[in-house]
Amino acid sequence: MPRVIHVHPARGLRGRLIPPGDKSLSHRALLLAGMAQGESRLTRVLRAGVTEPMLRALTALGVTWRWDGDTLVVDSPGYQAWRAPSATLDCGHSGTTMRLLAGALAAAGLPAVLDGSLGLRRRPMRRVTEPLRKMGVPIRDTDGHAPLILDARPPTQPLRGGVFRLPVASAQVKTAILLAGLAASEPVTVIEPGPSRDHTERLLAGWGLQVDRPAGHQVTLTPPRGPLSPLALRLPGDISSAAFLIVAALITPDAHVVIEDVGLNPTRTGLLDALRAMGARLTVEPLGERYGEPWGRITASYTPDLHGITVRGDLVVRMIDEFPIFAVAATFAHGPTYVHDAQELRYKESDRIARLVHELRALGAAMNERPDGFVAYGGGLRGGTARAHGDHRLAMALTVAGLAAQGPVQVLGGEMYRESYPSFLADLQRLGASVGEEEVPTA
Ligand code: S3P
Repeated sequence: MPRVIHVHPARGLRGRLIPPGDKSLSHRALLLAGMAQGESRLTRVLRAGVTEPMLRALTALGVTWRWDGDTLVVDSPGYQAWRAPSATLDCGHSGTTMRLLAGALAAAGLPAVLDGSLGLRRRPMRRVTEPLRKMGVPIRDTDGHAPLILDARPPTQPLRGGVFRLPVASAQVKTAILLAGLAASEPVTVIEPGPSRDHTERLLAGWGLQVDRPAGHQVTLTPPRGPLSPLALRLPGDISSAAFLIVAALITPDAHVVIEDVGLNPTRTGLLDALRAMGARLTVEPLGERYGEPWGRITASYTPDLHGITVRGDLVVRMIDEFPIFAVAATFAHGPTYVHDAQELRYKESDRIARLVHELRALGAAMNERPDGFVAYGGGLRGGTARAHGDHRLAMALTVAGLAAQGPVQVLGGEMYRESYPSFLADLQRLGASVGEEEVPTA
């Protein structure tokens, strides 16, 4: 049943929190553990709506898993021994699940159909089917969208390697090509126009595979011989979830919030750079590295004098999932904030340019849509009712907006936060916020 989140203006949010496990790393860790042969142990994997389809798919392929406290124990015969799924693999709302699975199934050479929600069917898939077809994968999309259909590939037909130049920086597409490349007969190189998140490269290298990364946004994987060995990983907290707590602290009077054990991979920290450029009171302490992934502590305090900035180019790629919450910060800044080069936002869980501008305007924001971004003029928010449009990050950004608006905010369809951050409302309450949700009866 749909739900509405009620949020009231807040003061003095305080506390120390650990965000849930990183979503991007969770998808990769689950799939790589499923491709490896033997028992892998993954600690602090994200247990949320968005990772359920990946776990269901692994089950359908003959992989078993069980929770041991906060560790997921995955037992697999190895991707070469996966069985063909007997039904369509439902990827839910998760684009990462669909695109990464397409690459892994391509390596396995199994027939399968990948489908998902209406929202997922709206998202572009040719960007992944086209390079896979060039590698010799018998895959087709449906007018550029899901469902994706893979036919069986005889084991006597290895996949081709080669150089793939992506027109758009996309970690999901890069990862699909690299996963298929595990079964290629020669090295696979991916060249991108910008710095998309590099978790796959770091994980594959940490796993002992040959991964070369010369200067530029380029990576070459040399396919390994034989089965892949099991993984033992402890994942850092998700900086994209922490982002909501960080901005909540910056815009709420007298707030001071400490976030522990959060991932600080430089391809993911664009929001921190953007907020610092706005004058945010923010400290970042790197504390270590696990499996090539840096992690640390972030402290954020109320900053009444945030000022507008311009965001464009590579910085957009390094904060691609953070624009809903960045826009909220921008509406509380002094002076205009301009976002350029961000047309990719239109292909996320919702059209994150059109929906974001429309919903923040409904709460009183002075904002305009641009073809490749938006401008936010600052000056704060009045409050009111906004909709999440089936988008988890829009739901959470609008909720945080309500902490600093002049009056209460209702977020219709706000339950979507469960997709990536199931303890979001509980964490805000722990910091002292007055937020709650209730079911909305359908007519
Ligand atoms: C992701 C990559 C990004 C991001 C998504 C997760 C990943 O998408 O928006 O939330 O885990 O690889 P693109 O690859 O389309 O940029």
